[in-house]
Amino acid sequence: MSVIEARGLRKEFTVRVKRSRLRREKRIVHAVDGVDLTVERGEMLGYIGPNGAGKSTTLKMMTGVLMPSAGEVRVCGYTPVPQRTKLTRRIGVVFGQRSQLWWDLPLRDSFDLLRHIFRVPAADHASRLRRCRSLLDLDEFLDIPVRQLSLGQRMRGELTAALLHGPEVLFLDEPTIGLDVVSKQAVRSFLTEVGVRGDTTLVLTTHDLADIERLCQRLVVIDHGRVVHDGTIDALHARYGSRRRVVVDLDEPVASYSGAIVEADGRRLVFEVDGSAAAVVARLGGLPGLRDIAILEPDIEDVVARLYKTTTEDAP
Ligand SMILES: Nc1ncnc2c1ncn2[C@@H]1O[C@H](COP(=O)(O)OP(=O)(O)OP(=O)(O)O)[C@@H](O)[C@H]1O
Ligand SMILES: [Mg+2]
Repeated sequence: MSVIEARGLRKEFTVRVKRSRLRREKRIVHAVDGVDLTVERGEMLGYIGPNGAGKSTTLKMMTGVLMPSAGEVRVCGYTPVPQRTKLTRRIGVVFGQRSQLWWDLPLRDSFDLLRHIFRVPAADHASRLRRCRSLLDLDEFLDIPVRQLSLGQRMRGELTAALLHGPEVLFLDEPTIGLDVVSKQAVRSFLTEVGVRGDTTLVLTTHDLADIERLCQRLVVIDHGRVVHDGTIDALHARYGSRRRVVVDLDEPVASYSGAIVEADGRRLVFEVDGSAAAVVARLGGLPGLRDIAILEPDIEDVVARLYKTTTEDAP
């Protein structure tokens, strides 16, 4: 059985739009507009899309926070809203913008409360907490009330809180939002650790594509509530024809060089290659005034920007 199964999942919101000083009109927003998704145990899935695409709404339906308007969703075999109590024991949730911790309590006490709420055996709780403490460097702020923690510290606490009961699926909505480079890396390597064990399924939304590159084998892109890509990052590159580039810097400017884009003052040549760059590099060996050669992997930011742009242009 798949861990997550969604068929024709929809969520509509009715919003009132002000038309004039006296008139307000009802409008229906199709936040999630027929999503089909199957996720197997142990997968690490990146769920991305532009602002307002429907990512958070999808996660809220999967975690039992919001009732779908139509369609079906099952997580760990449960229907999230009616079976929320049972589901909560099997999943962990981190919403980057909201906290699940007790604001006035130190992390240590929050973790203790969670142990009682979830009735986690003491030994399991202790060993999971030990692992989180060392991987996320929690010790220096375990005894400080949550409201006094920095965002990065709090986020490490949130991740720990979400994992202490040993969930099968971890839902993360923008877990690295607002974090500095070091904290982002701490969160990423922690999630890699969680993921490589293979028994926790990870569903992650983010606007930071480095999160996706580091963590996810599979990428689902959603726009206007619909899935517009479902596959690997390589498949996305292939679909959008993104290529590796060989960038060559020269001491002396050249006017042209066969097969190259010559940039600005002619001191830089750029080649686009399919597959191996060996042939291009070999050909360049004898070039006079050769200073440096670099091979650049296709940039996921570029591809995703192109994808968002095309889907926006196609939108109704
Ligand atoms: N409670 C609500 N009431 C009315 N409209 C809503 C509500 N929640 C979300 N929406 C609308 O549904 C759409 C999808 O919102 P959602 O929060 O799922 O987007 P998102 O992909 O998470 O975006 P972001 O990247 O900005 O977090 C948006 O148009 C949003 O305005
Ligand atoms: Mg969101």
